[in-house]
Amino acid sequence: MKRTVIVACDFPNMDTTLRFLDSFTGEKPYVKIGMELFYGAGPEIVRELKRRGHGVFLDLKLHDIPNTVKSAMSVLRDLGADIVNVHAAGGIDMMKAAAEGLTRPDGTRPLLIAVTQLTSTDQARLTNELLIDRPLEQVVISYAKNARAAGLDGVVCSPLEAGMVHEACGGDFLTVTPGIRFPDSDTGDQKRVTTPERARELGSDFIVVGRPITRAADPAAAYDRCVREFC
Ligand code: C5P
Repeated sequence: MKRTVIVACDFPNMDTTLRFLDSFTGEKPYVKIGMELFYGAGPEIVRELKRRGHGVFLDLKLHDIPNTVKSAMSVLRDLGADIVNVHAAGGIDMMKAAAEGLTRPDGTRPLLIAVTQLTSTDQARLTNELLIDRPLEQVVISYAKNARAAGLDGVVCSPLEAGMVHEACGGDFLTVTPGIRFPDSDTGDQKRVTTPERARELGSDFIVVGRPITRAADPAAAYDRCVREFC
């Protein structure tokens, strides 16, 4: 898979998003629609961005009982997103149900990936709040193996874990990695972060970049910098 930069469009509505994307004059960037934008703009935002020629990662991180996730996925299936996701913490049956719900009558489906551990979670939070008493990397790898066993296409993880995930699950198992920062930008709430260049060295397939692009004085230039350093 060609290395790709995904711009996290964490905006509250369609107008702001379209205005933001209009400032990109070159190639249409691959975009991520998360909860804020999906809840604010509704499903039409997915159709509109597809109509405008963007690749779309619909990052809604479903996590519920298998039957509910399957039904929800069968609704999302027809919106036209290229990638959708679930939380691996929902378990193997839930992930299998997600894949079933997402599969079209002709047997095709969008790429389906699973969040292993949020990149805002560090070892202290994992141990003290989630009461998972294992090294974080071990948990990420174990969740990635569950996702693979459920027939998913890859995981969301930190770039710091991308190499290990490929080793455990195969080179063709996708790693989609948020937690990207330029050496000179703020980490904010993210804990497991690295630069676009280091993410490439570590073997990420896709990087997801939000604030370093959306809050830059010149977002298109920040995007170009990510592409130069990562792709
Ligand atoms: O602004 P920033 O670059 O931190 O944005 C990262 C994006 O990736 C956010 O939209 C966040 O919801 C998402 N994400 C994440 N960690 C995960 C999964 C998704 O940061 N494990």
